[in-house]
Amino acid sequence: MKITVIRSAVIDAPINRVWAVLRDFGSHDRWHPAVARSRMENDVDGDVVGGVRRFSLTDGAELREQLLRLSDHEYTFTSCILDSPLPLFDYVATIRLKPVTDGNHTFWDWRSQFRAPDDRAAELENLVGQQVYEAGITGLRRFLAEQEALPRPTAPEEATAVLAAVGGEQLPSKAVVVAATGGPEVMSLRDVTVAAPGLRQVRIRQTAIAVNYQDIKHRRGICAGFELPGTPGMEGVGEIIDVGEQVNGLFPGDRVVYMSRTPGAYADIRCVDADACIRLPDGVSDMNAAMLLKGVTGALLLSRVFRAATGATIMIQAVAGGVGHLLSQWAKSMGLTVLGTVSTTEKAKFSRDRGCDHPILVTDDTPLAAEVMRITNGRGVDYWVHSSGAQGIDTAVACLSLCGHCAVIGDRDGRSMPLDVNVLKQRSLTVSAPVCFDYFDDRSYLERLAHQLFAKFQSRMIIPAIEAFPLSQATKAHHRIESRQNMGAVVLTPGG
Ligand SMILES: NC(=O)c1ccc[n+]([C@@H]2O[C@H](COP(=O)([O-])OP(=O)(O)OC[C@H]3O[C@@H](n4cnc5c(N)ncnc54)[C@H](OP(=O)(O)O)[C@@H]3O)[C@@H](O)[C@H]2O)c1
Repeated sequence: MKITVIRSAVIDAPINRVWAVLRDFGSHDRWHPAVARSRMENDVDGDVVGGVRRFSLTDGAELREQLLRLSDHEYTFTSCILDSPLPLFDYVATIRLKPVTDGNHTFWDWRSQFRAPDDRAAELENLVGQQVYEAGITGLRRFLAEQEALPRPTAPEEATAVLAAVGGEQLPSKAVVVAATGGPEVMSLRDVTVAAPGLRQVRIRQTAIAVNYQDIKHRRGICAGFELPGTPGMEGVGEIIDVGEQVNGLFPGDRVVYMSRTPGAYADIRCVDADACIRLPDGVSDMNAAMLLKGVTGALLLSRVFRAATGATIMIQAVAGGVGHLLSQWAKSMGLTVLGTVSTTEKAKFSRDRGCDHPILVTDDTPLAAEVMRITNGRGVDYWVHSSGAQGIDTAVACLSLCGHCAVIGDRDGRSMPLDVNVLKQRSLTVSAPVCFDYFDDRSYLERLAHQLFAKFQSRMIIPAIEAFPLSQATKAHHRIESRQNMGAVVLTPGG
């Protein structure tokens, strides 16, 4: 007989906190009252799909289950039973969490299907529903409440050890400081101390720090959001050292990436809002994770700003740059035809190898519009990703197809940009000026795009090209970008 068992409950804790426990497939012995011992076979981590957990129940029975699917952005996993002393045939179970509207509660749905002999169906249905699911839900509630009652942080044992070593004290670090606006040479590496994290912050020992063009504009003083003296950098990757008292779901030892409107990333150690952090899945290297801001900006353009359609054409300015080389690979993987501007033949080859069908070498006398029209047979491009502000905006608009869209994502000099709406009206064109942080105030949206990006890395659909510089050579890194030599993204590595 085929049996379906469903139990659901609302847990009095935010989703990240509940998920942090449940996503560890090997964690049942910490919270489920019926599980005496649980361990992952072959020492794989508890979130590795394909991993097998072996557990002994308090009544002495032994089971083996396999993790079939796990999605951090959907807060769900599916598993099956491999070996059981009970006749639970073809047993497949799924746990799925949803945030409750107020954000501090979590809806938990736990369901399974299996076959059982007719004469034991009722008994096994009750056993799974009550002794496994209902008891497990009660056990997890108790576990979370006990964690809450502990002195900070609510963390696993090994994490507590890290905290004890740190003692919540100030830590010595090095940071790049801009004392006055100017060229790359205004940056210097200084000894600093980093205080313990604030209530909702985490303190991170960084391993990779992305350089974004915005950092250069901050250093030059041509855009708002950076105060002097200050440390540039809006994005980093590393390991959490310790967490603030009101942080849930993140623990010392967690590997995280963050992006933040608040600069300060060019440092060995820094504190950052816990809400800005995304825990990294296995299989995504720290260097690749440092592509977060550039990658999700590309995803945002393709999926929301202009909802790219297969078969459409896209023009990407500076297609060999940080955003450009990720975006071209992503667009190509969606079946778009990619055009892009580059300033050297070397960059043309580089970008051709990374999804750009038509790299256009732009020199002072390149008739860019004519070249775009030639390639598109006079139709123009459906989407134009523009990063040079006022410079070239007229060309961008002139090269759009009917109903085409130009997304102005950046400028090099902060100049104002006159735009004649009547020109747009003639061919139903649209222009937007998206800023990724505005979209990612919706944290679940950021997580969704981040996990799409990680999946593209894991499947090697997108392979980032990264030029790495020690943190102490931030000056060289900036110079590399401003002299237009970079191919791909530039990342700083702390500790050097
Ligand atoms: N709106 C958003 O949310 C958002 C998010 C991320 C990035 N952005 C913007 O996207 C653009 C790309 O960012 P990125 O960090 O990946 O930088 P990037 O593209 O790697 O920037 C460097 C490249 O820009 C090109 N470039 C053209 N004119 C330049 C000039 N006058 N000075 C220096 N470089 C010039 C060069 O490529 P060629 O020599 O091949 O031309 C150079 O290699 C930037 O404008 C950035 O502000 C916007």
